[in-house]
Amino acid sequence: TRKMQIAIDGPASAGKSTVAKLVAKKLDYIYCDTGAMYRAVTYAALKQGVALDDDAALKKMLTNFELKFVPAAPEQLVYVNGEDATQAIRLPEITNQVSLVSAQASVRQEMTAKQQEIAAAGAIVMDGRDIGTTVLPAAEVKIFMVASVHERAVRRYKENISKGIETSMETLEQEISARDYKDSHREISPLTQASDAILLDTTSLNIEEVVEKILYFVKQAQ
Ligand code: C5P
Repeated sequence: TRKMQIAIDGPASAGKSTVAKLVAKKLDYIYCDTGAMYRAVTYAALKQGVALDDDAALKKMLTNFELKFVPAAPEQLVYVNGEDATQAIRLPEITNQVSLVSAQASVRQEMTAKQQEIAAAGAIVMDGRDIGTTVLPAAEVKIFMVASVHERAVRRYKENISKGIETSMETLEQEISARDYKDSHREISPLTQASDAILLDTTSLNIEEVVEKILYFVKQAQ
């Protein structure tokens, strides 16, 4: 069987990473969470007092930026400049500001290059916003995963509750819509479905059903 590249794109909180991880495990492929990379850059910028919309300053910061994914259970650890930032990059402070950083040209350029390097050998499942359109335009399987704003807020709400965080549904729906808008309307590599991507609406599907569907598309592409 071919060692393929599988690109999974879509808006915030559509369940991409949960599904991508399971698909990778099933196929014995590498999983790469590109959102974590933009979150890590945002984390480093906040920590170093670099303005989140200052492309030149971010570019300079990235000349001295070390990002490491370390395999661990239940989730891989994310090290930013030697520090474990696994939890920190998921905090609302980062989530609500990451779109500013990910819109900067040099940040996208650097991250895209890193992602292409990681995916070069194939046997990879990569999730994000622009994988099928920009990072891996030749990926054998491209999925564009969507779900209603309400359904995504419900999923995020449950996830938060399990972590002991209480955020109202209204706030979650607003945050999700705002991030969708920013990611879809930026100038460089905005969130959009690649012309050859399969649209997968997961609103009324559970995780297992989504994984099954993707594995079926992968089989078809073999
Ligand atoms: O997937 P996640 O929600 O962790 O992504 C965080 C943010 O990173 C997105 O809202 C988007 O601004 C940015 N991102 C991106 N391109 C990607 C992946 C994520 O711009 N390929």
